[in-house]
Amino acid sequence: MRRTMVAGNWKMHGTRASVAELITGLSALTVPSGVDVAVFPSFLHIGQAIDGLKGQAIAVGAQNVAVQPEQGALTGEVASSQLADAGCTLVLVGHSERRQLIGESDEVLIRKFAAAQAQGLTPVLCVGETLEQRQAEQTLEVVGRQLGSVIEALGIEVFARAVIAYEPVWAIGTGLTATPQQAQDVHAAIRAQLAAENAEVAQGARLLYGGSVKAANAVELFGMPDIDGGLIGGASLNADEFGAIIRAAGN
Ligand code: PGA
Repeated sequence: MRRTMVAGNWKMHGTRASVAELITGLSALTVPSGVDVAVFPSFLHIGQAIDGLKGQAIAVGAQNVAVQPEQGALTGEVASSQLADAGCTLVLVGHSERRQLIGESDEVLIRKFAAAQAQGLTPVLCVGETLEQRQAEQTLEVVGRQLGSVIEALGIEVFARAVIAYEPVWAIGTGLTATPQQAQDVHAAIRAQLAAENAEVAQGARLLYGGSVKAANAVELFGMPDIDGGLIGGASLNADEFGAIIRAAGN
């Protein structure tokens, strides 16, 4: 039985004061026993979140990681060994904003994925198509290629210690959400792709949906058989809304 996960991607948001307020709100939440909850603050606020959430059933992850696990001369980057030392347990890899706006290639994100696992961090691999690709009916091909490049480079076994997030680019921050069936169709294809390599890994892999998830649509999305939770952007910045999404995942 897969445990549900609800993860909050804070992106480039937050000040010390707003993060403190959010932590206070999150600390008051009751996390249902079958749900894993994580938040991904900016690097600046990771320490504050780890200290502030000590003793809570909420893990802290990073939004990015360097391509090498060891410390070194790599100005502006943060190594997975440093993240592990700080108390992080997860890291986002291949978010569409990094692929599209920063130009992160498959090659780079594969190295980041491996660097995360080398230090025991769980990578959350993000995949998803653009609106143009969906309209051209290339969704499964695009997502299949994004996932396939990691499988090809690192092997299927790495997905026994990773999470996959399907995030259609057109649904991120737009208020447009994939319908539960649209999301389920892609999740089923992802699981089938994993199963073609290793049925056990496929069965255990947690597949999150991301893209304008709110309390109002979470129940329906999380009710689909291959959707094991969500990666939440905007709505994770509000503890009450995020709490309602967590409760939806517990149902
Ligand atoms: P959103 O972002 O919930 O604001 O659409 C999701 C994400 O980018 O992870």
